[in-house]
Amino acid sequence: MIRPQFSDTLARVAGDWTDARSADAAIENLVFLLDSADPDEQDALVTLAARIRDHHCGQRMVVRGLVEFSSCCVNTCRYCGLNRNNPKAERFRLTPDDILESARLVHEAGIRTIVLQSGEESRDARELADVINKIKSTYDMAITLSVGERSHADYALWKEAGADRYLLRIESVDADVYRSLHVGRELETRLACLETLRELGYQVGSGVMVGVPGQTTHHLARDIRFLASREFDMIGVGPFIPHPDTPFRDEKAGGVGLTLRMLALLRIVTRNAWLPATTALGSMDRDYRIDALKAGANVLMPNFSPVEVKKKYEIYPGKRCITERTGACALCTEGIARAGGLEIDWSRADSLKMAVRL
Ligand code: 5AD
Ligand code: FES
Repeated sequence: MIRPQFSDTLARVAGDWTDARSADAAIENLVFLLDSADPDEQDALVTLAARIRDHHCGQRMVVRGLVEFSSCCVNTCRYCGLNRNNPKAERFRLTPDDILESARLVHEAGIRTIVLQSGEESRDARELADVINKIKSTYDMAITLSVGERSHADYALWKEAGADRYLLRIESVDADVYRSLHVGRELETRLACLETLRELGYQVGSGVMVGVPGQTTHHLARDIRFLASREFDMIGVGPFIPHPDTPFRDEKAGGVGLTLRMLALLRIVTRNAWLPATTALGSMDRDYRIDALKAGANVLMPNFSPVEVKKKYEIYPGKRCITERTGACALCTEGIARAGGLEIDWSRADSLKMAVRL
């Protein structure tokens, strides 16, 4: 049963999520919608989100090939299995040739974006710059980096070498929640990195985990406000999944329903951001990535890391597709798109927000 207050609030948020009455009212609306776990209400929310996605982005799903090239990390994020205090984490680092080979496989699968992800390393940025350069001179594809907080000079070097996009999740825009997730790190630093990336001309992605310890729907509503008002080109949200070798081992996982409502609301308020059906959503009791597509997501990131390293890149347990042969995920991509009612778009699919910004 859909309550009249739910329909009213949804219509209000879909019309103008900033709510003319006040900033507090805008947040209250979002909290109200996030809090509703009624199946009919959730259906109404995701159906509207999918409609808005189709209208603003087309009825399509874009594909990005993910290559996890290093599990080495100097950071101590308390939720993440790769944090440097986890002695059980298996550390690997692909050679430039390995990365190039992965890029070849991504290209061969018909995908025109490669996402290079790693733990936060302290290595010389020139090595990665060389890899970027080689990929760019060999293949016609976009490069997205996801390698954490680095200096202005490093970000500039990689941009110069040909990187197009950068993913750096804010994780939580609340300074206290942020601090409780990241030992010795400050929200300001991450905000400054995001600013720098934008200034340098990257297409920038951010995002949050849903259901981390201490997070309420009020925090999530403020995250939505932040993510929408910064006009990020890409926004990734996934449920928190406790890793047994981290300080958060005994915490509860984030809820699937809440994650899908968060995703749907992000679609409704951002209109044309690229929103992935994240691997975390695919790694719960079952694969919820199709549900994510039905709730407004429109990106899939099949894993192209070499099979021998896939299981070592364990940011959370139960990660989907770690035993599949490299590139096998590309096959599943078609089935997932179809089940989500979307056509696959194989192009590099740059930001839909760029035209507005230029
Ligand atoms: N559960 C869910 N997501 C996680 N991430 C890291 N650790 C976990 C976990 N335990 C997410 C973070 C990070 C992204 C690469 O993966 O949001 O930014
Ligand atoms: Fe560094 Fe997760 S803490 S990759």
